[in-house]
Amino acid sequence: FSLKKYNTFGIEAKAKTFIAVENETELAEVLKKHHSEKPFILGGGSNMLLTQDIDRLVIHVNLKGKNILEENNDYALVSAQAGENWHEFVLWCIDQQLGGLENLSLIPGNVGTTPIQNIGAYGVEIKDTFVSCRAMNIATQEIVTFDKTQCRFGYRESIFKNEEKDRFIVSSVTFKLTRNNHKINTSYGAIETELARLNISNPTIKDVSNAVIAIRQSKLPDPKELGNSGSFFKNPVISKTEFEKIHSQYPEMPHYVVSDSEVKVPAGWLIEQAGFKGKRFGDAGIHQHQALVLVNYGNATGKEILAVSQNIQKTIFEKFGIAIEAEVNII
Ligand code: EPU
Repeated sequence: FSLKKYNTFGIEAKAKTFIAVENETELAEVLKKHHSEKPFILGGGSNMLLTQDIDRLVIHVNLKGKNILEENNDYALVSAQAGENWHEFVLWCIDQQLGGLENLSLIPGNVGTTPIQNIGAYGVEIKDTFVSCRAMNIATQEIVTFDKTQCRFGYRESIFKNEEKDRFIVSSVTFKLTRNNHKINTSYGAIETELARLNISNPTIKDVSNAVIAIRQSKLPDPKELGNSGSFFKNPVISKTEFEKIHSQYPEMPHYVVSDSEVKVPAGWLIEQAGFKGKRFGDAGIHQHQALVLVNYGNATGKEILAVSQNIQKTIFEKFGIAIEAEVNII
């Protein structure tokens, strides 16, 4: 079974068996029936690089549905099933006049994977509106609810990437969204610039969403047109001492202070400085408008993209002494 259409990198790889499940009961049945083999869980396929065929069962989590669980004049609790497309869900919330997710417009992937790496963009992370998620224990098929604290969210991190890695399948996620008095967040410079360009001084949640969409479209390739997985690397967090050393050499280096002792540096800038932006190696390349994004020009293999990423890591380490880590799951 070809997985090419099921990963946004558009990599050709085969699954031994492929089963799509539409509800928790079906999911439990499949897990029970195949309990002796470790299944491979596939959501929207937007954050992985397939470097080989998957010689086991692939379960495609395709649970659909979204609804408002509870609401008053100020807030609504909204729940969406794991297989809902993230961006369509965001637009639906905005149409219902529900605020909180607008800065996360146009992020590829499905709802169920959003808590796993605490997706974030333009000054907002999923953890800011996240209430809880339902998840099925793969071994026992028991449903467990994880609240925000239990998820242990961090920058592109959660319990599902750490202590509970590969043990649960998220089946639905609940968010607390604003009904009135939306907390518009335009702190990210690019949003302010875009709104100013459009002469919008009192933006609605729809305006913010449109601004984010415009910014993303100008920098980030559409996976339907050019295979990619968004940011390939995480932005590295380095010690203040290390930062000061590099900064004295590169005073123009963008950076964000994380704490008294740590500074985050954009990997995209490091990659651009190292000369990789827009470069192409066969069908594998580095996006011309955002160096943090690796792209598949057509028939790149996962191994070829991986090799490019390793070449970048090595070069950045030699040039800056900084180790950058993949954000994408390498399979
Ligand atoms: N930069 C460069 N060259 C580049 C890319 C970036 O110099 O090729 C510089 C920019 O000029 C800017 C800084 O790096 O000063 C930050 O760039 P940008 O605002 O584009 O954001 P980013 O740090 O590169 C992160 C997220 C993105 C998210 C944006 C916006 C990570 C790993 N990535 O990128 O998330 O959309 O911020 O909030 O944190 C994703 O995770 O897939 C993703 C796209």
